[in-house]
Amino acid sequence: MSEEVKEVKIETSGKVIQSPCGPIIHGLEDVLVKTTTISDIDGKNGILWYRGYRIDELAKYSTFEEVAYLILYGKLPNRKELEDFKALLASYRDLPNEVYSVVTTLGKVKAHPMLALEAGVAALGAFDENPNDYSKEANLRRAIKLTSALPIMIAAHYRASRGLDLVKPRKDLSHAANFLYMMFGKEPDETSTKAIDLYLVLHIDHEVPASTFATLVAISTWTDLYSAIAAGIATLKGPLHGGANEAAMKQYLEIGKPENARAYVEKLLAEGKRLMGVGHRVYKAYDPRARIYKELVRQLSEAKGDMTWYRIAEEVEKVVLEKLAPKKLYPNIDFWSGIAMYLLGIPYEYYTPIFAMSRVVGWTAHAIEYLDQHRLFRPRACYVGPHDVPYVPIDKRQ
Ligand code: CMC
Repeated sequence: MSEEVKEVKIETSGKVIQSPCGPIIHGLEDVLVKTTTISDIDGKNGILWYRGYRIDELAKYSTFEEVAYLILYGKLPNRKELEDFKALLASYRDLPNEVYSVVTTLGKVKAHPMLALEAGVAALGAFDENPNDYSKEANLRRAIKLTSALPIMIAAHYRASRGLDLVKPRKDLSHAANFLYMMFGKEPDETSTKAIDLYLVLHIDHEVPASTFATLVAISTWTDLYSAIAAGIATLKGPLHGGANEAAMKQYLEIGKPENARAYVEKLLAEGKRLMGVGHRVYKAYDPRARIYKELVRQLSEAKGDMTWYRIAEEVEKVVLEKLAPKKLYPNIDFWSGIAMYLLGIPYEYYTPIFAMSRVVGWTAHAIEYLDQHRLFRPRACYVGPHDVPYVPIDKRQ
């Protein structure tokens, strides 16, 4: 890896609101909160690096396991390190019965699987063998444990919500293949496994979006890693963040056929509504992850013999490039990823959990990195209400 540290200046287009106490950077846009060597985004040119490696190269040559190692340990593994890491991940493919019970109970009452993940991760924290060990080594071990646990929780929730028997994890399959196996009870084909694996590679980290920031805020209080990850999951759930893939796919279903796409988008924009899967706080160019995943969606659509959703998205994309690109709004990863999940037969509500299943690696890596440069997050608010209001007894109030 290069030792060179280049000087970078983040150009801010941040929306500043004037307040009586001074300027407020609305939504903390472009505010720097830490230094990192985990990932970097060039939003102007649409480039993403993990630990200095271009996402395009990793997407082409790597697997989730290899990239997870890179994110957690800061270097690409050699063959032995990769085999050991895979074995370690596989060795954690299990959950305490009580955690299964939390997740499946929430599945049976049809709670959103993101709620089940939040609860499941918190519950897993109760089984940590050494909860008072906050060392880097202990947190790395927890990071790997959580990475193995999330797919089990998602599949258990899915099967319980449909009254199906649980499918226990297999240690001989890759992370992506084991996930599909636990979901559907049969070994997946190569194309389907590749679709999940690449999705995981592309979502593993993204500098400091809201969910990573939530994780950092939590860990800055020296809470435990499980609680910090539960905060990340809670934040990812929202439709402006992880929930957009589900929303984008629902738009394509509403559109129904490629010929309807233009009129649908034009009407939506005329009504001042947002097209889901479009726009990004940092990218002011085509999201590089979307560019890569678009090609996979094309291949998967061909393999599954259903080009409908790809064609609809292509038509929507044309209108976006025509009408929204001048405002620097382009398709993001969620524009394409929902289609792959749909073609794999995964119900919408599991799209964001699968995002979490990958991002848990980035969240834990950022939390561990932040503890090395730790300071409690504690911003201020500008109070604009009255002071010293006289207390009125309840019977005398209007
Ligand atoms: N469709 C139409 N117009 C949009 C969209 C959109 N998807 N996104 C932003 N705009 C417009 C917005 O109306 C505003 O216009 P104007 O200046 O005329 O009022 C302008 O663009 C700037 O919008 P903003 O809300 O200030 O921008 P932001 O940086 O807060 O928004 C965003 C970023 C991702 C929340 C937003 O683009 C959005 O809501 N997109 C749809 C949801 C989505 O796809 N989210 C996934 C993000 S990528 C995955 C991830 O990392 O989680």
